[in-house]
Amino acid sequence: MESTREQVVSMDEITALAKRRGFIFQSSEIYGGIGGFYDYGPLGAILKRNVKNAWWRDTVELRDDVVGFDSSIIMHPLTWKASGHVDAFHDRMVDCKVCKHRFRADHLKSLDQCPDCESKNSLTEPRNFNLMMKTHVGPMEDTASEAYLRPETAQGIFVNFKNIYQTARKKPPFGIAQIGKSFRNEITPGNFTFRVREFEQAELEYFVPDDGNDMEVFKDWVERRKLWYSSYGIKPEKLRFYELTAEERPHYAKAGIDVEYLFPWGWGELESIAHRGTYDLDAHMQLSGKDLQYFDEAAKKKYTPLLIESSAGMDRTTLTFLIDAYENETSVDPNGKETQRVVLHFHAHISPIQVAVFSLARNKPELVQEARALEERLRPTYRTQYDEGNIGQLYRRQDEIGTPFCLTVDYDTLQDRAVTVRDRDSMRQDRIAIDSLPGFLGDKVG
Ligand code: GAP
Repeated sequence: MESTREQVVSMDEITALAKRRGFIFQSSEIYGGIGGFYDYGPLGAILKRNVKNAWWRDTVELRDDVVGFDSSIIMHPLTWKASGHVDAFHDRMVDCKVCKHRFRADHLKSLDQCPDCESKNSLTEPRNFNLMMKTHVGPMEDTASEAYLRPETAQGIFVNFKNIYQTARKKPPFGIAQIGKSFRNEITPGNFTFRVREFEQAELEYFVPDDGNDMEVFKDWVERRKLWYSSYGIKPEKLRFYELTAEERPHYAKAGIDVEYLFPWGWGELESIAHRGTYDLDAHMQLSGKDLQYFDEAAKKKYTPLLIESSAGMDRTTLTFLIDAYENETSVDPNGKETQRVVLHFHAHISPIQVAVFSLARNKPELVQEARALEERLRPTYRTQYDEGNIGQLYRRQDEIGTPFCLTVDYDTLQDRAVTVRDRDSMRQDRIAIDSLPGFLGDKVG
């Protein structure tokens, strides 16, 4: 069978598939939705968890110089004063006086005309809009009880730096990693889950001594992150590592790389990797009056370590896996008949379901029993799903959710103790003995 793959995917196709198969839904859909918030359906929840696990495995579990951490979303409000978020975490916004729509000034081609109602000279002067979401802590709703939902997870790590290095008995160079929710009151959320108001970040803060090796460590993290994306199958030609110029970086940053993916609407940032010097620890030491320096026992001296940060958005990365895996495939069988399918070519570690097990017929108890028993046996090792019915329709469904292997129990199985194994990408079907399945799947799904 010959096949051609349609590489270009539109966001309409992605959002339709996400809804149709239960990956991602609009939040509070029955009430008309709420801008910038999304819910992950049964398959989306597994997909996102797999993406986060893949990051955590590579960044924390496979290293002996990184520890994990999990801080609270609401922190002391002075945290955000010290970090600069209260004074400087804003976008410039403009309002249209005619249609009342609001825009980010840097997203507009011109400030002379409203992009929505096209009125001329209707936009206000740009003004600052702080992106942090506010709430109140405790029973009083006054300014004294005001607090913020964190706009990044990193600050929880900085304020705990001393607690962590002392209890984990770590010495720079070492890193602290955490995955968690962050909130930003984006002026114009959009592009599905790319720019949202509630999202998850995976952040690594890697502390190094000021011994002249800091740029090597920075480059090493960039390489590691490059490898991470490619080892999970993200197409290298759709990924770029954009080096920020001195003008584009914050004044305290010595280097910065934006990891970008070529989305259907253009390049968009997935992750930022930055050399932040001593800026963050210095800022918290200054405002809190507490010592966050590292005490080097051997050298009997204190110093403030330099910081290399890698900060990736898990919702954007999950969306990237979905888009990158998506193919609209047209096949021509040996009789010249054309068929089309949508298939997600997920890496087997990322696929929500790894092995689907089918009974050829739903009204034959002996086949159903055999297939259910096989699925149960594989369940502790793989993410499995049992299904039954029309095999063509079952393949189509599993292709659309990216399941690498489908196993079918048929009448012959009862005699030959073998099943038909169908490969998602090649659509090849092989007869494999049930006893050989652990070895076969172990090699391919792992
Ligand atoms: N601590 C550094 C930091 O927060 P950032 O570049 O502002 O850096 C890091 O954010 C990553 O978080 C971004 O590259 C992006 O993947 C994700 N992110 C930021 N704002 C987001 C939003 N509104 N929606 C979804 N993801 C977002």
